[in-house]
Amino acid sequence: MSIAQKKFYEKYKIEDKIMNILDIIAKKRDKKELSKEEIEYFIENYTNGNIADYQAAALIMAIYLNGMTKEETTHLTIAMANSGDVLDLSELGIVVDKHSTGGVGDKITLILMPIMAALGVVVAKMSGRGLGFTGGTADKLESIPGYRTNISEEEFRNNVKEIGISLITQTANLAPADKKLYALRDTISCTDSIPLIASSIMSKKIAAGANKVVLDVTCGRGAFMKNKEEAVKLSNVMKQIGELAGKETICVITNMNEPLGNAVGNSLEMIETINSLKGNMPEDVKEVVLELGSYILKLAGKGEDIEKNKIEIENCINSGKAYKKFIELIQRQGGDISYCENTEKFEKARYQESIIFEEGYISKIDAEKIGKIACNLGAGRIKKEDKIDMSAGIIVNKKVGDYIKKEDIVAILYSNSKEKIEEAREMIKQAITITDKKVEKEKMILGII
Ligand code: URA
Repeated sequence: MSIAQKKFYEKYKIEDKIMNILDIIAKKRDKKELSKEEIEYFIENYTNGNIADYQAAALIMAIYLNGMTKEETTHLTIAMANSGDVLDLSELGIVVDKHSTGGVGDKITLILMPIMAALGVVVAKMSGRGLGFTGGTADKLESIPGYRTNISEEEFRNNVKEIGISLITQTANLAPADKKLYALRDTISCTDSIPLIASSIMSKKIAAGANKVVLDVTCGRGAFMKNKEEAVKLSNVMKQIGELAGKETICVITNMNEPLGNAVGNSLEMIETINSLKGNMPEDVKEVVLELGSYILKLAGKGEDIEKNKIEIENCINSGKAYKKFIELIQRQGGDISYCENTEKFEKARYQESIIFEEGYISKIDAEKIGKIACNLGAGRIKKEDKIDMSAGIIVNKKVGDYIKKEDIVAILYSNSKEKIEEAREMIKQAITITDKKVEKEKMILGII
């Protein structure tokens, strides 16, 4: 037996028997608490391929159904963070990381992080891909031809040092356990679970090396957390894990009942991002950008006063500095900036269909339904190996509370498949509700933890 094998046996021996995945699955299935060693055994052996996808799927489903204690969630997070490299970014000073728990039309990272970099905050950020009906920042970045999300760690560090920002996808060896589990959860309907989301996000934040973390905890129909109570619970778990790992953590709970902004889908959201940075930002997006950005500035030591920070951010956008920083980032990572200068260059979907409704007030735009329709149109993955259609998605021109007339185009569907457009035409009628009574707009910021 090699030394490594011997160590493995010593670590994972219980009484006279070596641990095995069947007992671990059965224990969680029977609602018992897993030990630190059992969780570490699962993560180590799933990451290195000794545990099959179907066994991991069974355990994940048991966790989804039966939950985890705070201790189990913490052990799971640490084991996932330690499944690969843990970066040390201390040479870069205070690095504030931002992460969203996912949403529909959520392009906040793409807009906010160049603003933060333009205001002198060091931005070294790894983003995920689409999960379930929610979109992923890394996929959206790749809608700009040439943009490389998978650069080496060395290039990532150099970009941060030289231009103050780099946005990439998770490197191959950063929390590899999360990479596998994230893709698996997506295909077995196990996305909306507090311990699984908290461990997924916080393992990446711990491994990615930032020393402060601002979390956008989305809440509502288009989020994994459907109500404020659940969002507060998830926030508390993540904050506690962050603080245990020595990272000051702030959670901003934001409204995700209707899609954020107007665009849902990869290149459509990228165009909205570019327009926002040029000063044409939808009001709901602006509210979230200002709130999260103000807390990032505070954690980075750039301003204690949240309201003053908001003014700084608005000035940064209006002066063109934020857009300039965005262009610098895109160019540095190989993206064709002519697409930013002229967004007409983005490839258009072959089929487009305008949708009208009866006259009245919009009382509901169901973000989850819109996310699923966009996914079906080709904007997301149904199986983990699916290829995304960058041009597919939906533009919803109106927001809840708006009055619409008969001839108003409320939504436009985009796809390269005629059949998918036909399916979506029926589905979108179920996603948007019209009433004859006036409807108030909803608040975007629901709480700070
Ligand atoms: N974002 C993540 O990184 N992980 C999740 O599980 C959900 C959102």
